[in-house]
Amino acid sequence: MRRLVPALLALAVSLPLAALPVAAQTKPVLAATPPMGWNSWNWFAGKVTQDDVKAAADLIVSSGMRDAGYVYVNIDDTWEGKRDASGVLHTNEKFPDMKGLADYVHSKGLKLGIYSGPGDLTCAKFEASLGHEQQDADLYASWGIDYLKYDLCGFRKKMDADAPGDKLKQNQMMRDAYAKMHAALVKTGRPIVYSLCQYGWDSVWQWGAEVGGNLWRTTDDVKENFPSIALIANSNIGLGKYAGPGHWNDPDMLEVGNGKLTLDENRTHMGMWAMLAAPLLAGNNLTKLTPEVTGVLTNREVIAIDQDTLGREAERVYQEGPVQIWSRPLADGGVAYAIINFGEDQTFLRGIGLHLKEAGVKPGMKARDVWGAKDLGSIKDDYKVTLKRHEMLLVRFSK
Ligand code: GAL
Repeated sequence: MRRLVPALLALAVSLPLAALPVAAQTKPVLAATPPMGWNSWNWFAGKVTQDDVKAAADLIVSSGMRDAGYVYVNIDDTWEGKRDASGVLHTNEKFPDMKGLADYVHSKGLKLGIYSGPGDLTCAKFEASLGHEQQDADLYASWGIDYLKYDLCGFRKKMDADAPGDKLKQNQMMRDAYAKMHAALVKTGRPIVYSLCQYGWDSVWQWGAEVGGNLWRTTDDVKENFPSIALIANSNIGLGKYAGPGHWNDPDMLEVGNGKLTLDENRTHMGMWAMLAAPLLAGNNLTKLTPEVTGVLTNREVIAIDQDTLGREAERVYQEGPVQIWSRPLADGGVAYAIINFGEDQTFLRGIGLHLKEAGVKPGMKARDVWGAKDLGSIKDDYKVTLKRHEMLLVRFSK
């Protein structure tokens, strides 16, 4: 055996690449890092049109968002028309030419996403995919769709009708419905990112990957205010272990730039989502981008944390009152570290300390304040921090 190993090694080295067994030529993982892009719902909701989506694609390019990694342009609910006599779904008058739109979006170096659900109707009461899963998946593939958000909504009626009061059976129905659309997508042969949207029911993080999900919503809908963002961040405590390359927890789309969020709140929202290795789907009105909002959305160092190839989501390592500390290990052996003041008053952290050891920070690591774009050198637990209400200190520690 001892002699055989070097002999085999020598043989392997001398083989041309093409002679390697097929299993060794691994297929790229879909959504190897959390998907990034823009989605129409948070800003346009039911009013979105084909022209809005085209304009969004243009603005993603001209604002520098595409080059920062935002590539999926996702149409949410309300694009659907009616089925014809053969069951083929048509778009409604707001989306006269989906194939043309996909071609346009692709010509910009972007990808196009779409929305449906396992019920007869979507949340906004448009046609959904029940009984037409393969037909719809084939249609998406023929248009050149790259991403599907599949929203439970209308299917709840069927769950109640077919298994009244039987939660276990209803949960199984839900899993089967998601698996069914996944199989249909796979059968098209087109790589289509599969986003499960069922608000975290039945602890979806435990089975989302098994039914083919590349991401799954962990909570109810995000809203454009800080309490909603804080609630969602807190609802993701303990879920980190379920996420990884190809299968992510989705704390919902970004509200950065929406509502009355302050700069600190926008940064905390974006920074927290990066810590959570969350899909980064901007949900704002791109026609009204300010330099401040663009700056938050395209901060390369924050995005690098989100997109870190190790794919390890942050966990909360410490809490004291409204102050929380989260950390995640990074592919280069460093650590992303966040300390957040979820409270309403300014907080001095002298008394709390940074809890670097619990956060996995090794002595001697070099710290960089990410939002402040400032090297801090080697900092210790007694490093003095002041956080305004809803402010975060985001630090990247490197070896
Ligand atoms: C909700 C979903 C939202 C949006 C909306 C569209 O169920 O959580 O993100 O997709 O439906 O009707």
